[in-house]
Amino acid sequence: MSSVLVIGSSNVDLSATVTNLPKKGETLMGKSFSTSFGGKGANQAVACGKLGADVTFLSCVGNDDYGKNIIKYLSSVNVKTDLIKVSDNCPTGTALITIDDDGQNTIVVISGANAECDVEYLKANEEEFKKCEYVLLQMEIPLDAIEYAIECAHKYNKKIILNPAPADPNISVEALKKVDYLTPNETEVEIMAKTKGFKESCDALLELGINNLIVTLGDKGAAIINKETNEIVEGFKVEAIDTVGAGDCFNGAFVTALSKGKNEAEAIKFANKASSIAVTRKGAQEAIPTIEEMENM
Ligand code: RIB
Repeated sequence: MSSVLVIGSSNVDLSATVTNLPKKGETLMGKSFSTSFGGKGANQAVACGKLGADVTFLSCVGNDDYGKNIIKYLSSVNVKTDLIKVSDNCPTGTALITIDDDGQNTIVVISGANAECDVEYLKANEEEFKKCEYVLLQMEIPLDAIEYAIECAHKYNKKIILNPAPADPNISVEALKKVDYLTPNETEVEIMAKTKGFKESCDALLELGINNLIVTLGDKGAAIINKETNEIVEGFKVEAIDTVGAGDCFNGAFVTALSKGKNEAEAIKFANKASSIAVTRKGAQEAIPTIEEMENM
């Protein structure tokens, strides 16, 4: 099995459930509140760990209880956490989440210590890029750090997966061209392409020189699109109660399956299954299934 390096954010998720998502200027009564661990980077690292990958996580948390407990939880699900930076300058990142009765959500992220998952920190950990085979990134850390990570992974000939969430189209085209798999959802594909329309946006990204697009389509599954292929790997129909972190579960599962030698279609099928289980449960990290649960379902 090849190893995976996940680089990205760690947050504490403050989640409220509501009947309907609030409109601009509206105050409404929530139904419940919970605190749990999140962050797109940490969620993806947890998915890798729970699903049996050999995974190292580079991230930055605050020197507070949240930060300490996040590291403890990550270690308990087989994520290598030795290199996670603990900042004395900033608190652990925070996400304010509302989830409606259909399981849909809105999320506001306050970076906190994630801002210190920067170029300097990644340079100090360059050895990790040499050791792994796959580098998995999202976009909740500084943009120049993401570009540096892509450059460094490319230098050592590693496979690069970029989940453009939250989508930032200001990333350099040079960096995007080096990504092996760009994994947006249907909204993010348009933002990254700076174009309207699904097909037009996919074409624009391929035209830019992106190697493979894996577009997640909710319960419809995911599409793999490149110069030769345009194929949908069907998803599983389930009753979603909470979609927070479903994309993260997909990305972690996808790279885990690749690291175990699966081909792209098999890896997408595995990722569709893992994320379809995750949306039937509450929370981001606790909803992600283990490899044993996957095998039994
Ligand atoms: O993708 C879901 C995640 O987005 C949440 O866990 C939250 O922390 C934000 O990063």
